[in-house]
Amino acid sequence: MILIKLGGSVLTDKNKPFSFKNETAERLVKEMDSVDELVIVHGGGSFGHPGAMRYELNSPSPKEPARGTAEVQKAMRVFNLKIIDLMLENNLWAVSIPGGMITTFEDGDMKEINTKIVKDYLDLGAIPVTFGDVAIDHKRQVTICSGDDLMLGLAPLADTAIFVTDVDGIYKEGEIVDMFDPDMLPLRDDDFLKSGEGVDVTGGMERKTRLMLNIAEKCPTYIVNGSVPGRLSTLLEGKKTICTEVRP
Ligand code: IPE
Repeated sequence: MILIKLGGSVLTDKNKPFSFKNETAERLVKEMDSVDELVIVHGGGSFGHPGAMRYELNSPSPKEPARGTAEVQKAMRVFNLKIIDLMLENNLWAVSIPGGMITTFEDGDMKEINTKIVKDYLDLGAIPVTFGDVAIDHKRQVTICSGDDLMLGLAPLADTAIFVTDVDGIYKEGEIVDMFDPDMLPLRDDDFLKSGEGVDVTGGMERKTRLMLNIAEKCPTYIVNGSVPGRLSTLLEGKKTICTEVRP
């Protein structure tokens, strides 16, 4: 199974609430259509992050947690439905599995994830599409379940994990690196060109990179620029393209 995260920054304009990049999303859907077994995770982008920030849902004490949860969950389902629609229009049998309904957290850390339901839908021949969401947290009431948390939780089912973002990969001293390993940490801000734009409650590329290193312990892991046509499909065909492979 190929596990693909479509980052919020590639699917939305993070500076503009509720902005969906329909053309990019449709192209990416088509670039993935040859994959046999696929699980998609998508982030929050400009649908999830503004509300998550307003209600401080990623903090130890969320504000107005019931209202915040309701509003952010709704925004994420609106976003998810746009992707599901595009997939169905392209004969990809996507089934929606909200991230907050298959995970529980404790003090911001994911404690449980129901991978079985994902596996069951895969066995059906469908394409599970899960996404960053608001989840129950047994210490904080609720917290943000990020797409990255879901990637880590689903990685044991995957043969390959791919992070589709709006950057070419990881840079070191201005050059894109084909292969990234833990010896290259710590990263500097400019090791991720264009990162840190817009609102992001789960952000910090250093944190994301450490998480990718954890995922890479389970399966080959790549970062590829989804804003550039053809890169994702080339990577999926097993051919050489501009990207970074993360090695544990
Ligand atoms: C955040 O998920 C989910 C919400 C804010 C509800 P991510 O942190 O994975 O989202 P992106 O990919 O950075 O937008």
